[in-house]
Amino acid sequence: MTDPEAALGQIVRDALAAELGAAYADADPLIRPSGFADYQSNAAMALAKHVGRSPRAIAGPVADRLSASAAVAKAEVSGAGFINITLADEWIAGSASAQLEDARLGVPPAEPAQCVVVDYSAPNVAKEMHVGHLRTTVVGDAVVRVLEYLGHRVLRANHIGDWGTQFGMLLEHLRDVGEQAAYDLLAAGEINDFYQAAKTKFDADPAFAERSRRRVVALQSGDPETTRLWQLLVRDTEHYYNAIYQRLGVTLTDADLAPESFYNPMLADVCDELQALGVAVISEGALCAFPPGFTARDGSPLPIILRKSDGGYGYDTTDMAAIRYRTRDLGVDRLIYVVGSEQALHFSMIFAVARQAGWLSDKVRAEHATIGMVAGDDGKRFRTRSGGSVKLITLIDEAIDRAEEVIRDRYDDPEQRRQIAEAVGIGALKYGDLSVARDSNYVLDFDRLLALTGNTGPYLQYAAARIRSIFARAGLDPANTSPGPIHLGTTAERTLALRLLGFGRAVEDVTAAAEPHKLAGFLFETASAFTTFYEQCPVLSAQRDTRGSRLALCALTLRVLVTGLGLLGITVPERM
Ligand code: ARG
Repeated sequence: MTDPEAALGQIVRDALAAELGAAYADADPLIRPSGFADYQSNAAMALAKHVGRSPRAIAGPVADRLSASAAVAKAEVSGAGFINITLADEWIAGSASAQLEDARLGVPPAEPAQCVVVDYSAPNVAKEMHVGHLRTTVVGDAVVRVLEYLGHRVLRANHIGDWGTQFGMLLEHLRDVGEQAAYDLLAAGEINDFYQAAKTKFDADPAFAERSRRRVVALQSGDPETTRLWQLLVRDTEHYYNAIYQRLGVTLTDADLAPESFYNPMLADVCDELQALGVAVISEGALCAFPPGFTARDGSPLPIILRKSDGGYGYDTTDMAAIRYRTRDLGVDRLIYVVGSEQALHFSMIFAVARQAGWLSDKVRAEHATIGMVAGDDGKRFRTRSGGSVKLITLIDEAIDRAEEVIRDRYDDPEQRRQIAEAVGIGALKYGDLSVARDSNYVLDFDRLLALTGNTGPYLQYAAARIRSIFARAGLDPANTSPGPIHLGTTAERTLALRLLGFGRAVEDVTAAAEPHKLAGFLFETASAFTTFYEQCPVLSAQRDTRGSRLALCALTLRVLVTGLGLLGITVPERM
């Protein structure tokens, strides 16, 4: 066990059991990071009442027992009964050496492994993917990678919007401009122009509006020619999304498409089942569900609409069908929806209805991993100067161009410079999304995201690149050397080693609430500890044993950084 908190937890439990009796072998050791030592245990305070002794009367003898453990250098009682614990250098060094030998870098596989749906990205057909979609895409993809690394079975679900009344006007517009011209526009990402042109005609031209309405009916009734046109439209847009996914290094493929239309054949049956269960009722001609606890401002119960009075189905119905399909047919244990926070009410209502229907329960849980807003300098939603939403592909290009400026002086070879700029620019953009809590808003400011210092993608990539260059200077391949063993001579080495041991916990912490920023924060602290180490501890010029130990610390840091960034979907350039 190389996780210090878990290892200490076991040692404290053993000490509690020895001091207080076997009944306490499962007590919570309440290990927390401490400002005075490596960790503290607050268990004595929690148990005092139950045991009938003062906290200090428990803490004293427990601390004595802890001191006897080989893993512990010092255990001292402080204040009302805290036990401050300093780990033994030998334990830290030995654990770090073991972590370096471990193919999983000290990350234990999840127990039990679950089957998890992650619903993310989900742009809309014939509508530009905007910065908000960038965020759900990047965060969702990181969550997926972490879950898979831990051994969970993950079903990626790209719930794209490919259905609805607006398709009438879009299809009529497609016919007007011609199939090839539409393809050229859409595949090039001129999606907003396409959509706007259709909308303008719809608003201005009654004949076009009428054609559009007839086209919706034809689409819904499965008219073959209309279906063919619709498929073209969907395919053209997907072409563009796929280009973006590829540029970003996102793991979504066509196999992960679970568009709204996929659920069409299930909608009638879902409505029938909810009605038969008594969860849905007819209200003013529409089939509605009124989940308990949701009320409008005036206090009246708030519905989700499952079937409109004209027989049409909408976004709510599709999502109900998706929950039933995922839980019943796919048999998943957990559903994570990585979607903008403006849909919070939608998801809490459909989850509530799904619980009423018995599709969700304490065993099969759904959660909305809310995504905050990406803002511009003015603090408002990020837009172009002219007020339109920004083309994602433009944003990606800008990130890379700017990254190239940052590294311009270092590379003469334009080919190589461009390649590194790709990794740095995209890394900066993604890390900007992943380093802040997913539900908070953040300002997209390229200067900040691309800074080589601070909590940025480039800073982390740079730390890894520095380590590679140490090995390169020594003529060694970091993947194929087993230096070491690790021993800890200085505070900087000790701090770095102890930090590295937290990797497993940091990875695990991402999964509890789908929060990649927890891993990002860990990686930043690791890179910072490495920077201090690098400034204070010569590696290649050190004496033989010290050199071996420091090279081992470098190798471990490199692996943790590269693996950790990889879990966030960020690549590390060979050089920087
Ligand atoms: N297409 C939707 C949008 O752009 C997001 C869909 C999210 N997933 C879902 N199952 N509702 O807002």
